[in-house]
Amino acid sequence: MKDIWIRPARAEDADAIIALNDAAFGTPDESKIVAQLLADGDSLASLVAHDDREILGHIQLFRILIDGDDIAAGLGPMSVTPERQKSGIGRGLIKLGMTMMEGQGRELVFVLGHPDYYPKYGFSPGVAARYEAPWSGPAFMGIELSNTAPRTGALTYPKAFN
Ligand SMILES: CC(C)(COP(=O)(O)OP(=O)(O)OC[C@H]1O[C@@H](n2cnc3c(N)ncnc32)[C@H](O)[C@@H]1OP(=O)(O)O)[C@@H](O)C(=O)NCCC(=O)NCCS
Repeated sequence: MKDIWIRPARAEDADAIIALNDAAFGTPDESKIVAQLLADGDSLASLVAHDDREILGHIQLFRILIDGDDIAAGLGPMSVTPERQKSGIGRGLIKLGMTMMEGQGRELVFVLGHPDYYPKYGFSPGVAARYEAPWSGPAFMGIELSNTAPRTGALTYPKAFN
């Protein structure tokens, strides 16, 4: 992580973020979600990690409603350029992203992703399983950011996930 900075994405980063997501996932599906979240006003944070030459990583956070209340967040898509994976860039993006969600007063964060990766940051399938959601199973995980977070409820995901 030496000489790598993390900052909010700017409009002029859009093409690089699309290219990064497409390279990391090997399909354009995730970059379409990123663009749609932004277009629909459902993005809560979009952060990029970069060095002095290029963007190397990106994390997207978006709003999730619980029983209609705008109090939770979803994490993803998240991507690190293939040549620089497993060098700590993802860790930096998640840590700053979660700090921002806590700062925004989000009570819970959910993620659908690698079951071996997100538990490193406190995400657990047991937390997510308490809520009615479009997903279930070990890849669907959640983390509470507040001790007043509702323990159950129905999650509404943004239109970008339809
Ligand atoms: C998943 C991804 C975002 C992780 O970013 P990264 O910068 O490679 O991750 P980090 O270097 O911060 O890894 C932190 C730790 O997680 C581990 N790790 C990285 N990717 C992992 C994976 N896919 N599954 C399990 N563990 C993983 C690292 O080995 C490291 O372990 P350590 O703490 O014991 O040293 C990145 O590999 C990526 O873009 N993958 C392709 C796209 C993708 O799958 N996105 C996520 C969808 S859920």
